[in-house]
Amino acid sequence: MRIDVLTLFPMMFQQFLQESIVGAAVAKSAIEPFITDIRDFSGNKHRQVDDYPFGGGAGMVLKPEPLISALEYLNYEEAPVVYFTPQGKVLTQQLVKKYASLPRMILLCGHYKDIDQRVRDNYVTDELSIGDYVLSGGELPAMVLIDAVARLQDGVLSDIDSAATDSHEQGILGCPHYTRPAEYLGMEVPPVLLSGNHARIEVWRHEQAMKLTRERRPDLLKHGE
Ligand code: ADE
Repeated sequence: MRIDVLTLFPMMFQQFLQESIVGAAVAKSAIEPFITDIRDFSGNKHRQVDDYPFGGGAGMVLKPEPLISALEYLNYEEAPVVYFTPQGKVLTQQLVKKYASLPRMILLCGHYKDIDQRVRDNYVTDELSIGDYVLSGGELPAMVLIDAVARLQDGVLSDIDSAATDSHEQGILGCPHYTRPAEYLGMEVPPVLLSGNHARIEVWRHEQAMKLTRERRPDLLKHGE
């Protein structure tokens, strides 16, 4: 999957794309990130990309020309153009799966107050939020989406940490996990996990997942909403 990122802060992505599961996905070419510095498309020698908002008010707005030049350079019509904003649709695992199945996506990271609305109206196809709080820019949300789609690409996760049992994958939260030692400082692992009875273990895990979901996220159990 090709993932284009348009950002004012390309350095933020360097380490992120080299580490852990995302790093492995890049190394295997399961995802192919292309980071574009919006300032390279400023069209002026000061590399200025923002300006004061018409009508006044606090904060700066990203100008349309650099964004549109960069999008045209990237043949933006070939892929969804995703803009990250708290006004967007809240990202869920269901949406992550949809993006993960695409051959390409273009992630537009805003900064400062906003990007010029004309870019949102005429070039952006999808607006996503990663939750009801405000960040300084779209870089962290872009990394969130890249991480979530990278781990779903074929061959990225081993069977052992397969995505199937993750929280949200079955529409509920995941179950608790334990590893060796079986007893530490008087704290014991639930005996069923040491029983070797896989059918009982599966039942226990499902019960634990349901209990956690009822306690913490009853909203996930309400269907048809
Ligand atoms: N930009 C700033 N805050 C954001 C959020 N919560 N989600 C997506 N993009 C954002």
